[in-house]
Amino acid sequence: MAAILSLTLLPGSASADAPSPRDPSAPIDKRVAALVADLTLEEKAGQMTQAEKGSITDPADITTYGLGSILSGGGGAPDPNTPEAWADMIDGYQARALETRQKIPMIYGADAVHGHNNVSGATIMPHNLGLGASRSPELAKRAAEVTAIETRATGVPWTFAPCLCVARDDRWGRTYESFGEDPELVSSMVDVVDGLQGTDLTSNTTVLATAKHFVGDGGTTYGSSTTEDYKIDQGITELTREQLRDLHIAPFETAVDRNVGSVMPSYSSVDHPDDDTGPVKMHANDELINGVLKQELGFQGFVISDWKAIDQIPGDYASDVRTSINAGVDMVMVPYDYKTFISTLISEVNAGRIPMERIDDAVTRILTAKEKLGLFDKPYADRTHIGTIGSAEHRAVAREAAAASQVLLKNDGDALPLASQGKLYVAGSNADDLGNQMGGWSISWQGSSGDTTEGTTILEGIREVAPDLEVTHSKDASAPTDGHDTGLVVVGETPYAEGKGDVGVGGHDMKLSAADSAAVSKVCGEIETCVVVTVSGRPLEITSQLDQMDALVAAWLPGSEGAGVADTLFGDVGYSGKLPVSWPRSVDDEPINVGDPDYDPLFPYGAGLTTD
Ligand code: GLC
Repeated sequence: MAAILSLTLLPGSASADAPSPRDPSAPIDKRVAALVADLTLEEKAGQMTQAEKGSITDPADITTYGLGSILSGGGGAPDPNTPEAWADMIDGYQARALETRQKIPMIYGADAVHGHNNVSGATIMPHNLGLGASRSPELAKRAAEVTAIETRATGVPWTFAPCLCVARDDRWGRTYESFGEDPELVSSMVDVVDGLQGTDLTSNTTVLATAKHFVGDGGTTYGSSTTEDYKIDQGITELTREQLRDLHIAPFETAVDRNVGSVMPSYSSVDHPDDDTGPVKMHANDELINGVLKQELGFQGFVISDWKAIDQIPGDYASDVRTSINAGVDMVMVPYDYKTFISTLISEVNAGRIPMERIDDAVTRILTAKEKLGLFDKPYADRTHIGTIGSAEHRAVAREAAAASQVLLKNDGDALPLASQGKLYVAGSNADDLGNQMGGWSISWQGSSGDTTEGTTILEGIREVAPDLEVTHSKDASAPTDGHDTGLVVVGETPYAEGKGDVGVGGHDMKLSAADSAAVSKVCGEIETCVVVTVSGRPLEITSQLDQMDALVAAWLPGSEGAGVADTLFGDVGYSGKLPVSWPRSVDDEPINVGDPDYDPLFPYGAGLTTD
């Protein structure tokens, strides 16, 4: 009861003492130490709490409970969903945080994972798998710099990105969030952290980055998931420690060396093949969070849990809280019942089951990040660059990244580049669908088909790049094909995110839909030259129809600037992309990765034809 009563504290009543004044001239570590020493347990618990914006029914709770952080989950936008409304919303929360006794600013987090993708009108970059295909850390860094500018301008100083997952089984619904199957490729892309964080986190053009999901999220065994109706997402990573280090820990070592500001553990579990310990949830994994991430790798930032992830730890909620915090989690993305989390955390500390040293360490890490971001001095949105959101300059970077991510897998008879004169027949489900080419984590958590934001579809890009071309667009290829020089069929997947995209969930099968398969057969059967483009979050099984195609391009999820796909189709930009994952002959061959014994993909990791 005592713990609950303590939660009725009103601002300023936590202690009779006035807060000790913050000395802005002192070094950050001294300022933080002085502040931590002056906080009550209730105030410390509040700093370790992250609530989802939609769960805050009474904004006064931000002050009452001293919430240290608030987030927008996937699609968590204000209404209207405009950059200005985002900044207004977050400033409103911040004002409440600054009414607390110590006036500690809250830190707002969001998933800006391929652009500031929750915001209508923002520039949407290719998803990571396409950036991996570009093999250009420099370009990925520039895309991240644009993302950081657009994100910070809306008052969001922290993104839950990049995913440093190493996708080893493409049946995983998060394959497209990975830069690829090779840990060296993924590590090379950690330049994205530099693009997001820059050299000065107080700048209005940078944001705190999050390396996620630590560790082994991309290496789980198909069928091992115990979450909802998922198949592989949030499953068990069954590797030796040596394999885990080589394949999945390596990119996080690079990120820690780049001073990544936060790390998010994975929902998945790590097995212990060397003994009979059995799989341990990553959010409960003292050995890997405290032992490897913080002690061995020297991670100085803070560990933010995933969404409601501690609830998955075996045991009751009190056990979940103490196990995760004692394992090294510093802030918990609750995200709904923040009152219960706070009261439970306080109870566990008061009972001596969570050492105060652990609490002080967690709060020190969190407050250090807030100081580095300059939030104590400038807690409100700096809207200087808000007008650049979705600008032509930013979209040009996204277009360049989309073009560089294209992988040319087949080009018989130099079918590509296409002529910019004559008659082109365009078919397929993803030729003219902005939502499908952006994929998941676009405006909403799962993404959705159609014109969900501003951008250019691949078909619109074709018309822009080749205005003199006579284009017949027939999504289902029902229009007559006669008289056309070339047929282009853009096929692929509809959007999904996380385990809802696992093969075997929601109809996802890594194969062409019946309509797309029929369109390929018709167009490629009736028009002399036929090009197929796949727009998908992973390789698709196309083996049985490959012989029908003169050319095949993997476009991945190119984002809002479909003209980037057209730039390569017409040769304005040469093809240079390389497969970031192995392309299987059959879905049943998964997992299939470079280096496997008897490796026999349809197209090997690193494949990709180049054109001038
Ligand atoms: C999700 C994802 C994580 C994301 C978080 C907040 O479940 O696993 O990548 O950052 O929740 O949206």
